[in-house]
Amino acid sequence: MTSRGKFITLEGIEGVGKSTHCAFLRDRLLESGLTVVTTREPGGTRLGEAVRGILLDPSLPAMTPLTELLLMFAARAEHLATVIEPALTRGEWVLCDRFTDATYAYQGGGRALDMAAIAQLEGLVQQGLRPDYTLLFDAPVPIALARAKSRSASDRFEAEVSEFFVKVQAVYRERAAREPLRFVSIDAAQTLPEVEDALRGWVRKLAL
Ligand code: TMP
Repeated sequence: MTSRGKFITLEGIEGVGKSTHCAFLRDRLLESGLTVVTTREPGGTRLGEAVRGILLDPSLPAMTPLTELLLMFAARAEHLATVIEPALTRGEWVLCDRFTDATYAYQGGGRALDMAAIAQLEGLVQQGLRPDYTLLFDAPVPIALARAKSRSASDRFEAEVSEFFVKVQAVYRERAAREPLRFVSIDAAQTLPEVEDALRGWVRKLAL
């Protein structure tokens, strides 16, 4: 019988280099002989990517925080059922650029929605599924935002002010401190080779 794959999520505020680090990590896991699926949230399915378009589009009228929360979980329900769960069952490793920790951080921290309501939706949508490991890329807000802003036009989240991201980051850090076995915090203010060394070291520790 094939053993179940591992579910790894990558988190952090905008500008910490998550996408680059995700590709690097995927390559290291592939080198170790694993089958790896890389995906992202919101998104990861045709339907989820369409929902992502709505969530990020700065030209749409403002939505309520609750609408935003429900759209995140709607995309997640589809993603879990059609991509994540089937891959894990096939024994593949899933590398997901953001997941529910982002919901606690952005909708709970940034938008001040009730954490207990988020936990209820998490229970309903995920039925007990949680990431095996979460890599939190952490850098001071001004450094990360300066990097994000230099990249491209701002989406609906990137257009937020720096206080929003301070709140988001505080929730990420609290969650990482509360679950030290699941979370691996990586200093994303380091140079790229240093971050890559940290990722290599983490993969080595997995002893694949
Ligand atoms: P990305 O640009 O890093 O792919 O993420 C898109 C945006 O979506 C990012 O600003 C964070 C936000 N987001 C939430 O607010 N809640 C969530 O649950 C997820 C997955 C992302």
